[in-house]
Amino acid sequence: MPRRPPERFAFDALQVDPCADQPLYRQLEQRLRDAILAGQLKPAERVPSTRRLAADLQVSRNTVSLAYAQLLSEGYLEAEVGSGTRVSRHLPDDLLQASPAPRTAASAAVGPRLSRRGSSVAALGQWITLPGVPPRPFRPHVPALDLFPRHIWRRLSQRRLRRMPWYEWGQVPPLGYPPLREAIAEYLGISRGVRCTAEQVVIVAGAQQAIDFVARLLLDDGEAAWIEEPGYTPARHLFELAGVEVVPVPVDGDGLSVAAGEQLRADARLAYVTPSCQWPTGLTMSLPRRLELLEWARCQSAWILEDDYNGEYRYDGRPLPAIHGLADDGHVIYMGTFSKVMFPGLRLGYLVVPDQLREAFRAARWMADRHSPPFEQAILTDFINEGHFARHLRRMRTACAARQQALVDALDRHLGGAVEVVGRESGLQLLVHAGAGMDARRLTTAAQKAGVEFHPLSVYAAAEPEREGMILGFAAYREEQIEQAVQDWAVRLERG
Ligand SMILES: Cc1ncc(COP(=O)(O)O)c(C=O)c1O
Repeated sequence: MPRRPPERFAFDALQVDPCADQPLYRQLEQRLRDAILAGQLKPAERVPSTRRLAADLQVSRNTVSLAYAQLLSEGYLEAEVGSGTRVSRHLPDDLLQASPAPRTAASAAVGPRLSRRGSSVAALGQWITLPGVPPRPFRPHVPALDLFPRHIWRRLSQRRLRRMPWYEWGQVPPLGYPPLREAIAEYLGISRGVRCTAEQVVIVAGAQQAIDFVARLLLDDGEAAWIEEPGYTPARHLFELAGVEVVPVPVDGDGLSVAAGEQLRADARLAYVTPSCQWPTGLTMSLPRRLELLEWARCQSAWILEDDYNGEYRYDGRPLPAIHGLADDGHVIYMGTFSKVMFPGLRLGYLVVPDQLREAFRAARWMADRHSPPFEQAILTDFINEGHFARHLRRMRTACAARQQALVDALDRHLGGAVEVVGRESGLQLLVHAGAGMDARRLTTAAQKAGVEFHPLSVYAAAEPEREGMILGFAAYREEQIEQAVQDWAVRLERG
């Protein structure tokens, strides 16, 4: 009997609803992701061009481009010069096996359901970047993992394995391994201008958990929080999940506009800011603006949550001291992470909290997941105390400055006036806009065809930005990879 050809996935039957709350590109992205996870779209299967799918679904090309860009950055799709965009050939098996069985109408209708909160959480699954797949230029949020001194980490791990007292394999205090808290307090005082004692340092499982705890412990349902616009969207989601009313406050060349915030909701209870490296613009908050923000917090008896996730990476002079160091009256909660200076898989970050909050954080951590693993905390303590951390940091700063320069030069050389770079003072990412006479959609399509990843600026904005932008991460990529990727991008742009 002749074999039946495999059934083609019906892209034109994908359903998106222009009246739904979720933007069209998000809906499309979700439908495609579901189809890949359910095995309806197979590894290496080609997806239609943005033009064709946009015409089939009667949506704008930008909608399709944004959905593809997100799936490319998560590793669900891959694009190669000359062969268009296809489903990634390297999807980990466990990911596919873990996908839910295709739901029938009957199975969808019966059985217990998620809570409303659970459904809101589930909708955030789109933020999970695909683990186990090497990042491609210019996926942001990835540090220079290739430069991490793994041999030193291995040596320190082996030594700790041999010497760690048996009782430390049990539990450590929820606020963290005391010697690590001491090492961090000392480091912050010297390098970030944060004056604190070890007792004020709270070890958390990365900056993400820090934001989650702050949102749930310091704000009540319906109270307002200022969030930078554009800003770090995952933080916005955490505040929303905690029942907080999120007020997006525009960012200008000096940082979050306190005047605009006061007009929008002067009585907010908290301002979440990234002053030393605004995400995603990479700009730094000026000193007058920092003082203005502090003044507002004092008048309103509000909190400032200072996310210093990238504070160490400043290329234009010395790193700027944190806002925390400007005031010791307990309005500023400082947070940092080892994700950008070490590696994100470590899942270690910290908060510096006023004394009166310590008990709440201690109990919250214990109830959530007890504490971070003792072993990693102990190795990190040795890494800091034996000078490896300071050395690594110096090396990372130099390397990231060189990688940033390589990206700026390559953009200039190959894309010239087609792109406009926004801020390059700090951080591990560059925000670029389409230059005069160039359309952001053309750049996006060309990037997809060239297999170049980025995050669209609109993903980090509550409202559609006036100008779409592209957030290019550069830290994780060697200079020659950067050069090649920009060159491929330019070739694709030229070909149209
Ligand atoms: C602005 C900002 N804050 C916090 C985080 C979270 O970092 P972590 O890996 O420590 O949770 C990120 C991650 O990229 C970030 O960009």
